[in-house]
Amino acid sequence: MKKALALLLAACMSLALVACGGGDESTSGSTPGGSASTSQGATSATGEAKTVGISMPTQSLERWNRDGSYLDEQFQAAGYETIVTYSDNDTNRQVNDIQNMIAEGVDLLVVSAIDGEALNTVMNEAGEAGIPIIAYDRLIMNDNVSYYVSFDNYTVGTLQGQYIVETLDLANQAGPFNIELTAGDPADNNAGYFFQGAMDQLQPYIDEGKLVVVSGQTDFDAVATAAWDTQTAMERAQNILASYYADGTQVDAWLCSNDSTALGVTQAIQSDYAGANKADILITGQDGDVANLKNIKDGLQSMTVYKAVANEAVVTLDLAKAILEGATIDESLIEASGWDFDCAYDVESYSTSEGRICPSFLLVPDVVTTDNMQEKLVDTGYYTVGDDGYLVAAA
Ligand code: BGC
Repeated sequence: MKKALALLLAACMSLALVACGGGDESTSGSTPGGSASTSQGATSATGEAKTVGISMPTQSLERWNRDGSYLDEQFQAAGYETIVTYSDNDTNRQVNDIQNMIAEGVDLLVVSAIDGEALNTVMNEAGEAGIPIIAYDRLIMNDNVSYYVSFDNYTVGTLQGQYIVETLDLANQAGPFNIELTAGDPADNNAGYFFQGAMDQLQPYIDEGKLVVVSGQTDFDAVATAAWDTQTAMERAQNILASYYADGTQVDAWLCSNDSTALGVTQAIQSDYAGANKADILITGQDGDVANLKNIKDGLQSMTVYKAVANEAVVTLDLAKAILEGATIDESLIEASGWDFDCAYDVESYSTSEGRICPSFLLVPDVVTTDNMQEKLVDTGYYTVGDDGYLVAAA
């Protein structure tokens, strides 16, 4: 039932995306549609619909458009009013957007932070106003955050690292294989988890000499990509190729923490790589962005770690309802909600400050390759196959 709703919403969402066209970073306010059934906690004592403020980082990275639309549609379908903002990857703008939501008197905030450290003041303001906060996908380092909803970020990295280990058959092959590393935005709390998860798989083979990072760049700070920007990732990859691989030295694998960075690395390899194995380089990713699924089909990227953000929105909605209804929140929410996907209640992994664990609901990521793309993405209804044979978001 929840999945059917998510798929229906995916359909509405693709229309909404068409409508927002040029991708202007924007604010939109909406009132609930008339036909949806209103959930118990969606109205105040006076019968007015409660309002949920949804603050997303940017429209320039594909997934946040999907997240913003799913959240907007699902909260509205449950009878809430919504205010949705995208802050153009500009922290000051996100602070401003959230301050406006507080001034509008929202009943709950769902925030995916551009910079997990930079929202302190505005989170304190929300806390003082008694507004519960759900940190969505990215944790915010502030104790006013009530709960965290995300995928298991460390496992995302583990899956990427394992993919490289298994595909190169490092347990049995002597190598050495050459590898380079591209991580995410240091301001995003997730980025370190992705990188650590992957490195915990790769490091033993680096230590053994079976994997060689030819550039020598292995520290998170050296391999990070500000704002997860494709162009930035491409330029760094071009520099590495020019400095260490121009003589035809082969790179065998390139760990990329997500699809926007994988896109940049793939572009650099297509334009600037001199080695003979261009078609066989393993490149990892995360998200299932449409451009990357095309590259996977064309053999230019090897895998992506898919995270069903429609389900992340479902968890966020059910958690928000429970908060607004004053229900007890622990792992019992999982069973009570009847989700048809896996989600763990975690009270160990994420801290908003020293000594304060942030209770978290963590969904399970999944590896997608050309071999299982149909089964994982098309048969599940998340994408359809377009006329040109490439995947498009379900319509
Ligand atoms: C998300 C990833 C995404 C990245 C860049 C991270 O916080 O978890 O799914 O690829 O941000 O948008």
